[in-house]
Amino acid sequence: MDTVALPDGERVPALGMGTWSMGEDPARRRMETDAIRLGVDLGMTLVDTAEMYGEGLTEQFLGEALAGLRDQVFLVSKVYPHHASRQGVKAACERSLRRLRTDRLDLYLLHWRGGEPLKETVAGFEDLRKDGKIRHWGVSNFDTADLQELSALPGGRLCAANQVLYNLERRGPEFDLLPWMRAHHVPLMAYSPIEQGRIPEGGALAGIAARHGVSRWQAALAWVLRLADAMAIPKAASADHLRQNHAALGLELSDEDLARLDAQFAPPRSRRSLEML
Ligand SMILES: NC(=O)c1ccc[n+]([C@@H]2O[C@H](COP(=O)([O-])OP(=O)(O)OC[C@H]3O[C@@H](n4cnc5c(N)ncnc54)[C@H](OP(=O)(O)O)[C@@H]3O)[C@@H](O)[C@H]2O)c1
Repeated sequence: MDTVALPDGERVPALGMGTWSMGEDPARRRMETDAIRLGVDLGMTLVDTAEMYGEGLTEQFLGEALAGLRDQVFLVSKVYPHHASRQGVKAACERSLRRLRTDRLDLYLLHWRGGEPLKETVAGFEDLRKDGKIRHWGVSNFDTADLQELSALPGGRLCAANQVLYNLERRGPEFDLLPWMRAHHVPLMAYSPIEQGRIPEGGALAGIAARHGVSRWQAALAWVLRLADAMAIPKAASADHLRQNHAALGLELSDEDLARLDAQFAPPRSRRSLEML
């Protein structure tokens, strides 16, 4: 498994698993549990969730699905912005830990920027880190100006990752956000890396996928994974999708492939505000 270094040098799998909407439908539970356990077996041990997903149901599901596997997993959860005061973040983390049946999170993210002062959230995260309840903290859906503000705060440079929307159709971060993150050693975690399945048919992507003998979703995922310093967390609820996503790790896109993809999915020529889903 390729890995990406966090700012403190710890290495995390480049390809992980998202969980948005998992654990909400009892009829899908068996299949989803098998998918999560298969993913861990395949080494996709970076697992992303949030208190928001199913209002706690997804964390609860994961707590069960990961029984006996917790120590193999780099577990990420996120706090709602309206819980992100210094005290609120600690209470929310305790609830997440209970649902996830664990004593620590490996990474705890502010899901998006809300009304609580960032200084408060960072202080809450640092309290949790010192108490051993979280090992790292970071942010999600932060644009360049948000990261600049964060990094100017006491402790703000301890931010371990920024989880943002990034895929072939959402290349805005390449203009200024990714360069800033690289310069300041904040790794990217790409969410919705296959645009929630809405990868367009036809065009250069279809040709490239056919030439490599893969699906357009696998080619789109390989395109995100071309970045040596990015993690990607596709969500897959079936064993087939999981295996296909795992296989995308072995797919090397050539310079010619990348140039053709640039023609179909144009890189940004000016700053775009960060999009979110
Ligand atoms: N921080 C944030 O604000 C934020 C926002 C959105 C998402 N996220 C995180 O990022 C994760 C991934 O994003 P996402 O769930 O929005 O979208 P995604 O991973 O881009 O796409 C998931 C969809 O693609 C399908 N799929 C997966 N692998 C496939 C394959 N190989 N071929 C064809 N279809 C495939 C899945 O179907 P099946 O499920 O049926 O396999 C599902 O419908 C989320 O689950 C969540 O953990 C974070």
